[in-house]
Amino acid sequence: MSEPTSRITLEVNGRDVTADVPSRTLLVEFLRDNLGLTGTHVGCDTSQCGACTVHLDGIAIKSCTIFAVQAQDATVTTIEGLDPAADHPLQRSFQRCHALQCGFCTPGMIMAAASLLATDPTVGAAEVRGALEGNLCRCTGYQPIIAAVLEAGKELAG
Ligand code: FES
Ligand code: FES
Repeated sequence: MSEPTSRITLEVNGRDVTADVPSRTLLVEFLRDNLGLTGTHVGCDTSQCGACTVHLDGIAIKSCTIFAVQAQDATVTTIEGLDPAADHPLQRSFQRCHALQCGFCTPGMIMAAASLLATDPTVGAAEVRGALEGNLCRCTGYQPIIAAVLEAGKELAG
């Protein structure tokens, strides 16, 4: 018997999207496989690594933890939609501060940090560590990532 499908309508990176998806499709699978937004990574799909972090109605969430159907009528932003020119202060500060090596964790880190800075760009290192505690990085030792987020926060705070 074929798996039941559901019709979903949502906004992704400013574009209205309607699709029929199997009801058990994870949001991350929908973004990557249906929409080709492969900047959202899958490191575990068990809510451990944060590589799949996107914004759901402006809040950072791990997109492997919800079904696509749960995003009905929501606004989703992925790393591809964070800044039209890929020139968000975080994208620049991550480069300047050498906050990435292999880059696998980077989209999730940036999306988690962007949500935090949108709430308060003046946060300190402790808040940044707290906001990123669900995002794992095997390469950088985290210090350059914290520095990059603080630097982007200063720019956003003006
Ligand atoms: S892929 Fe979602 S938390 Fe690892
Ligand atoms: S830069 Fe390689 S996992 Fe973070």
